[in-house]
Amino acid sequence: MTLDILILGGTAEGRRLAERLAADRRFRATLSLAGRTADPLPLAVPARFGGFGGERGLADYIADKRIGALVVATHPFAARIAVNAAAAVRSTGVPALQWLRPAWERQAGDDWHLFSSLERLVDAIGEAPRRVFVTIGRQEAHAFERAPQHHYLFRTIDPIDPPLAFPHAMVLLARGPLAVEDEMRLMTEHGIELLVAKMSGGAATYAKIEAARRLRLPVYLVDRPAPADLARVETLAEVTEWLDQLAERAERGE
Ligand SMILES: NC(=O)c1ccc[n+]([C@@H]2O[C@H](COP(=O)([O-])OP(=O)(O)OC[C@H]3O[C@@H](n4cnc5c(N)ncnc54)[C@H](OP(=O)(O)O)[C@@H]3O)[C@@H](O)[C@H]2O)c1
Repeated sequence: MTLDILILGGTAEGRRLAERLAADRRFRATLSLAGRTADPLPLAVPARFGGFGGERGLADYIADKRIGALVVATHPFAARIAVNAAAAVRSTGVPALQWLRPAWERQAGDDWHLFSSLERLVDAIGEAPRRVFVTIGRQEAHAFERAPQHHYLFRTIDPIDPPLAFPHAMVLLARGPLAVEDEMRLMTEHGIELLVAKMSGGAATYAKIEAARRLRLPVYLVDRPAPADLARVETLAEVTEWLDQLAERAERGE
């Protein structure tokens, strides 16, 4: 018996799970992407792109496609889709699990400042012009328009659209993972005084955090939104163990 799995992705976790399930005949996995990245990396399983049309649309999709298990592997900052998933799980009763990477932990030498919103963070940079490296993705880059006095280096995967309308902003296009030494070189070359990031967690974007520590730079972090009401695990092993149990139950006809 084959179990249809829907993976809500857009993350390294979604990709890793897809790769793990691609060759496993017990499962037929579909990876769902919001469609934000113009040119996503090749995918190991069939994908669908774009929103479902809210929680009702997601619930309908789960019912129509007879999804046997839902894995929410979206980014910790993608709050809307996780809340929608929790609601769709309640209305459909589909077995579901969220794979949420742990937040980073402060190490000796880290000069971290956490903010509950990006707006508060931007205001806290202060009046005096500073050289700021911004790595929060392109969707919220315009929040920095309220503080045009600073010199910004933005790094995004796709271009920021519409382009930023403030005077001292440079945009660098790059896709991680990046090495700590490269991050240190970049920050030094641009005379960076402050790093702005999201408390994303995970290894793929940690190099900049380590680079800032080594360079003794302050890091302003946007804190995570509240997690959705879903059962949660932190590792791929836990997800696959859960799927193994579901597959065994399906095999027994339970
Ligand atoms: N936010 C970040 O910092 C960040 C960073 C890296 C990657 N990502 C990834 O980028 C995507 C969009 O992030 P976001 O912050 O815009 O999310 P969001 O605010 O939680 O979601 C906004 C809407 O986008 C659609 N959507 C989001 N994720 C989807 C998915 N995996 N498959 C199908 N539709 C999806 C849903 O539309 P409908 O309501 O129409 O279903 C959702 O209501 C997510 O997949 C996330 O994993 C986000």
